[in-house]
Amino acid sequence: MPFSSFLSSLLLCLLGILLLHGAAVTGGCFSMEREALLDFKAGVRDTRNRLSSWTGHHCCTWKGVTCDTTTGHVVMLDLRNTNFTDDWALRGEGMNSSLLALSHLKHLDLSFNNFSGIRIPEFISSFKKLRYLNLSSTKFMGGIPARLGNLSSLYVLDLSSALGFACPVDNLDWLSDLTSLKHLDLSGLKLTDVPDWFSSVNMLPSLQVLSMSSVGLNTITASVAHVNFTSSLTVLDLSYNNFNSTLPKWLGNMTSLTHLYLHYSGFYGVIPDAIGDLVRLKELHMPGNQLTGYLSGWLEQMTNLITLDLSYNLFNGSMPSSSVGKFSNLTELYLRDNSLGGVISEVHFENLTRLQVLDLHDNSITISIGQSWIPPFQLRYVDLTKCQLGPQFPEWLQFQTQIEELYLADCKIAGTMPAWFGNISSSTITDLDLSNNQIGGKLPSSLKFTKLERLHLESNRFEGPLPTMLPSTLDTLYLSNNSFIGQLPIWPHVRFVTISDNMLDGGLSSSICQWTYLEYLDLSKNKLLGEIPFCLGKSLQNLQFLDLGNNCLSGEIPYTIDFLSRLWYLQLKNNSFSGELPLSLKNCTELQFLDLAQNNFVGSITLWMGDNLQQLIVLRLRSNMFSGIVPWQLARFEQLQILDLANNNFTGSIPHNIDFNPKISTMDDPRLYDRWGEDACE
Ligand SMILES: *[C@@H]1O[C@H](CO)[C@@H](O)[C@H](O)[C@H]1NC(C)=O
Ligand SMILES: *[C@@H]1O[C@H](CO)[C@@H](O)[C@H](O)[C@H]1NC(C)=O
Ligand SMILES: *[C@@H]1O[C@H](CO)[C@@H](O)[C@H](O)[C@H]1NC(C)=O
Ligand SMILES: *[C@@H]1O[C@H](CO)[C@@H](O)[C@H](O)[C@H]1NC(C)=O
Ligand SMILES: *[C@@H]1O[C@H](CO)[C@@H](O)[C@H](O)[C@H]1NC(C)=O
Ligand SMILES: *[C@@H]1O[C@H](CO)[C@@H](O)[C@H](O)[C@H]1NC(C)=O
Ligand SMILES: *[C@@H]1O[C@H](CO)[C@@H](O)[C@H](O)[C@H]1NC(C)=O
Ligand SMILES: *[C@@H]1O[C@H](CO)[C@@H](O)[C@H](O)[C@H]1NC(C)=O
Ligand SMILES: *[C@@H]1O[C@H](CO)[C@@H](O)[C@H](O)[C@H]1NC(C)=O
Ligand SMILES: *[C@@H]1O[C@H](CO)[C@@H](O)[C@H](O)[C@H]1NC(C)=O
Ligand SMILES: *[C@@H]1O[C@H](CO)[C@@H](O)[C@H](O)[C@H]1NC(C)=O
Ligand SMILES: *[C@@H]1O[C@H](CO)[C@@H](O)[C@H](O)[C@H]1NC(C)=O
Repeated sequence: MPFSSFLSSLLLCLLGILLLHGAAVTGGCFSMEREALLDFKAGVRDTRNRLSSWTGHHCCTWKGVTCDTTTGHVVMLDLRNTNFTDDWALRGEGMNSSLLALSHLKHLDLSFNNFSGIRIPEFISSFKKLRYLNLSSTKFMGGIPARLGNLSSLYVLDLSSALGFACPVDNLDWLSDLTSLKHLDLSGLKLTDVPDWFSSVNMLPSLQVLSMSSVGLNTITASVAHVNFTSSLTVLDLSYNNFNSTLPKWLGNMTSLTHLYLHYSGFYGVIPDAIGDLVRLKELHMPGNQLTGYLSGWLEQMTNLITLDLSYNLFNGSMPSSSVGKFSNLTELYLRDNSLGGVISEVHFENLTRLQVLDLHDNSITISIGQSWIPPFQLRYVDLTKCQLGPQFPEWLQFQTQIEELYLADCKIAGTMPAWFGNISSSTITDLDLSNNQIGGKLPSSLKFTKLERLHLESNRFEGPLPTMLPSTLDTLYLSNNSFIGQLPIWPHVRFVTISDNMLDGGLSSSICQWTYLEYLDLSKNKLLGEIPFCLGKSLQNLQFLDLGNNCLSGEIPYTIDFLSRLWYLQLKNNSFSGELPLSLKNCTELQFLDLAQNNFVGSITLWMGDNLQQLIVLRLRSNMFSGIVPWQLARFEQLQILDLANNNFTGSIPHNIDFNPKISTMDDPRLYDRWGEDACE
């Protein structure tokens, strides 16, 4: 056969194949399937025009549609809303069974769209070839159709939050027919009423991933005859349930597990040694239960661990180097809020070259590490709050260049701040807390951390002037209870500042008017002199909390105070303020706490108090020279719980309708109560 005729017969043959399907195929798409897709499109609301490519004949090229390259049938419909916001969701009010024509469908993903008006359509169970079904966060109403059990080819079933919040599921019997299932996610469904949930999932011999997080489970069988998926299950997530049970021993039979998530699930008691058989675990998360016992006897063999989170439990004993210390892949270690004790030394860390997170917050652990130790790791997150770390400053920190958060509060560190301190992870650190130690010395005049957002140095022995240059990222600065002296610098970016209980002197100069982002300022218990600058009101319009109590300030309250329209806390007690209060004070309508006690204020209170300060909870005017009558409007301040007018020059009588029923015991803001308590007995 000459080559040309060979070619033409090949063409003919190809044409024949095309013709065979030809009746239905136009432009690589079966017309029946195209019609079905168009019907589907017509039935959904698509505010963001995500289906705008769904026009013309070539349905296999439409966005989200995939056809089999050989047969031309639509095999995959991926309409996942990757923007997660409701705005981008398709709304399925009018979705009907037209999709059934896609009889070759293997993969259907409708996740994060909004079907809140309709039930999960029964017709989904007719896609005989379906292997992947993702209805995550679709918020259908009603229950789960039992006929889903007909999808016997299903590998992956993700029904996480597929139903609206209040829709309970009454049984999971239909699961037992999904014998091919490898991945099952039921998280966020309401399974409280499902009887014997474990028997239903135990029918799935090939299961690899099981997620049942936040489903309201409150029972877990203590003993089962046989766990079907012991050799297949790698991921088990039962977190955020309320089992109120000890850990079942059979968990230890799932020896293929690499990921076990049991956050806040109501488990209590001693960890069974059988858990120690889960030697392949890489991720073990059990925070927020009431588990007790030692970190030995079960932990030693889990040498593959990458993350170990046992926080918020009741573990005791020490942290043995024979377990945690040899997990050379360990990256994140969370043991915070337990009852651990003992001593941790360099030996514990010698093989932890990959450690990035070390959280031992609030245990009774002593960390005893030589001053010349060079750590094998670079930490990212360090919380050693309340560990015994001092008295010497931990020198090994100077080799850590990647730390983002460093919490060393209450660590019994004493002595002077080392010179290298200003360089600790200076280009990465955002949070630094050294509060409640006995650290002394001066701060450098310029803090060079380029990303620092929060700095806690309160309750130490710092001295000398305040730093004049702060990183522009720093918005929270706690320096109370130290021995700082001198003036307030210009800190243009700060929002929350406390420098209470120091030895600041000099005036409350107008430099403070440049702290224009300021919301919270506590300068109480210093030796500040002079007047409140006139510019304060107009400049600090975000101010909500101002405490200048127990200083030596004088002069009048500037009338510009009315610009502080968000102010809810104003504490000026025990200064030498004088004059009448400005009428504009009545504009500060958010005020809940006003304490002007122990000053030299004069004049009538009727005018500024007016009717406006309806939010007042605490009003203290004690020991001034206010005069005139006590305004009858006070009786209308329904929130008022503490009223102290003693030791003034008021005339007349207390308005008889004031409700003198102190409600102190019902006050729910301890800050208010403390401050009131300070000199309640004077
Ligand atoms: C599905 O809805 C479309 C448009 O809303 C309609 O044209 C079609 O007849 C419906 N199909 C079925 C099977 O109900
Ligand atoms: C998600 O939203 C962004 C911005 O609103 C838009 O640019 C993007 O195309 C959206 N992606 C999808 C898949 O809709
Ligand atoms: C289902 O879709 C969501 C996103 O829409 C995704 O996060 C999730 O991993 C998917 N489930 C499975 C099992 O693939
Ligand atoms: C979903 O759609 C319904 C009405 O169709 C609407 O009330 C609801 O706010 C939407 N969003 C979510 C997240 O349910
Ligand atoms: C589909 O499921 C229903 C309910 O579980 C059942 O009655 C029916 O026989 C099943 N159909 C097929 C073809 O398996
Ligand atoms: C294990 O699964 C098989 C079928 O999947 C089932 O027949 C059997 O009852 C299951 N065993 C248990 C103990 O549930
Ligand atoms: C767990 O494993 C042990 C030892 O292999 C076996 O004797 C026991 O029957 C298993 N238990 C379950 C519930 O599968
Ligand atoms: C847990 O179970 C005990 C009895 O075993 C019961 O007294 C307790 O109230 C339960 N706690 C919760 C939170 O259900
Ligand atoms: C650590 O992880 C690597 C892969 O990143 C693996 O090859 C190695 O076996 C693991 N080491 C241990 C002790 O588990
Ligand atoms: C660290 O690894 C070395 C070498 O594998 C080993 O000899 C030593 O015991 C390990 N240290 C700890 C604390 O496990
Ligand atoms: C204070 O209130 C008065 C009227 O009650 C108003 O004229 C004045 O503009 C207010 N001041 C501010 C700064 O809003
Ligand atoms: C107190 O009031 C009386 C009469 O109202 C007045 O004579 C006296 O000067 C006032 N004392 C002070 C300290 O303001």
